[in-house]
Amino acid sequence: MEVIFSDSLIKEEKLEELIEEEGLRELVNEREMPFIKLIGRKELKRLKEEVERLKERSSTLVVVGMGGSSRGVKAVDEAIGKRRGELLFIDNIDPDLIVKVLEQINWEESSFAFISKSGRTLETVAALNLILEELKKRGIEAGKRCLFIGDGGNSFNELSKRYGAPFFPIPEEVGGRFSVFTAVGLVPLLFAGYRVEEFLEGAKGVVENPLKALKLAAAKYLHYEKGRKISVVMPYSSYMGEFTEWYVQLWGESLGKDGKGQTPLKAVGTASQHAILQLFVDGPDDKLYQLFFVEGYRRDPKLPKEVEILPYLSGKRISEVMEAEFIGTLHALKSKSRPVITFKLKELSEREMGELMMSYLIGVVAAGKLMGVNPYGQPAVEIGKRVAREILSSRRG
Ligand code: PA5
Repeated sequence: MEVIFSDSLIKEEKLEELIEEEGLRELVNEREMPFIKLIGRKELKRLKEEVERLKERSSTLVVVGMGGSSRGVKAVDEAIGKRRGELLFIDNIDPDLIVKVLEQINWEESSFAFISKSGRTLETVAALNLILEELKKRGIEAGKRCLFIGDGGNSFNELSKRYGAPFFPIPEEVGGRFSVFTAVGLVPLLFAGYRVEEFLEGAKGVVENPLKALKLAAAKYLHYEKGRKISVVMPYSSYMGEFTEWYVQLWGESLGKDGKGQTPLKAVGTASQHAILQLFVDGPDDKLYQLFFVEGYRRDPKLPKEVEILPYLSGKRISEVMEAEFIGTLHALKSKSRPVITFKLKELSEREMGELMMSYLIGVVAAGKLMGVNPYGQPAVEIGKRVAREILSSRRG
């Protein structure tokens, strides 16, 4: 993956200066960024063995988890999409979604991964109870079909013991949205047959050489200081929508504190060119743009020599049309002096996704330091959770 800062309207030397001045390189350590401590070989082997056991009994894994407990997996799964085991997600408490997923599965061949760092998330616990009840009704042994992932001492751990089901701890210091490289991400990805070692290798490369992640933080911060309070992510791919959702949570929840924050906004190339691009190019200059371009496609049809309506399409690959439109957008943004950071991904692979996601994880903590914001925790979210809890506690079932 290449990250291009030359259109960011800030000289690279200036970014490097800020990194040095603020000691951002020293920030990349396991105390400040616990998520950079990647899983060891022995532990990974154990995960693989457990997942293999699960796969002997099931061809589908239903992932039940909210926010950071499912978004990272969805991002990788959508981007790569070459599964050998099916993944389904219950990541909302929408009754129609839950019923749809539970009606669509073959119960004799499905397993369930309940994922919650706290072990107390309302939506996850509600779905869990519904599923446990259904397994019971169907006479399916929960211990053989469920696995639990959460904080070492939480209620999920207790439950796993009671049901004799596997439990995978999330390292205590690693919070939800930072957990894609722990069992939270790795167990479902292993089930689906993704090359998890490659994913981890991509991440490791960034931990070893975090300069581009730190430059990303520096550029985003400097534009924030100039009043660009919105940060757009616009992949030129239909398979990175879940990645943009992951980014929205990471950037929004980590930095949106004490009246500060950089509002994440997602778009998709080329579709959004026919929707919001007008605003990006000619609206208020309050945004920083992160464009993502994928160089290699899985399939790339060629147009015929004889074409209708637009003769310049003759014999062109579809990817050439995509590339021309990407360059067009870049040009349009640059023509109005809008700052752009471009990510060039060789292809949508495990390695590239690992590199991309670790770059943003390191980037958001570094941006937090620059903005004077603690990127961990999400205290304001608790207000709504408390109210929901009170409403439910005051009503009879
Ligand atoms: O990033 C976070 O910590 C949160 O957004 C969580 O991922 C989300 O609230 C789900 O929490 P839990 O994993 O405890 O169920």
